[in-house]
Amino acid sequence: LAQIEVELNDINEGGHSTLKWRGKPLFLKHRSPEEIKACRETDVSTLRDPETDEERCPKPEWLIVIGVCTHLGCIPIPNSGDYLGGYYCPCHGSHYDAAGRIRKGPAPTNMEIPEHVFKTENLLVVG
Ligand code: FES
Repeated sequence: LAQIEVELNDINEGGHSTLKWRGKPLFLKHRSPEEIKACRETDVSTLRDPETDEERCPKPEWLIVIGVCTHLGCIPIPNSGDYLGGYYCPCHGSHYDAAGRIRKGPAPTNMEIPEHVFKTENLLVVG
């Protein structure tokens, strides 16, 4: 249904999990300190779809994002591509960083961040 609760205990640092939510893949990414640093240090003015890492990942250890490429809707591959801890879409070669921001390739915008809150340290509510 509309909202889901997710226990995040099982996803190790650097790890990734995919769930299904509202008929779409939901990516849960536990970001490592290096991945967070790379995203936070990115010059936002160089981005196609300029959003800060803080806006996208208010809780820095976690990226919660809809796993659909904004080009033509393929599902990007986690922890792959040219950006540390990022995503690669094999359909036409879009590269996203560990904040799900488009960095290279044909996709026009960042992957979508769904509404979500952390109810406790490790309990996520999406929707
Ligand atoms: Fe992802 Fe085209 S659908 S690059």
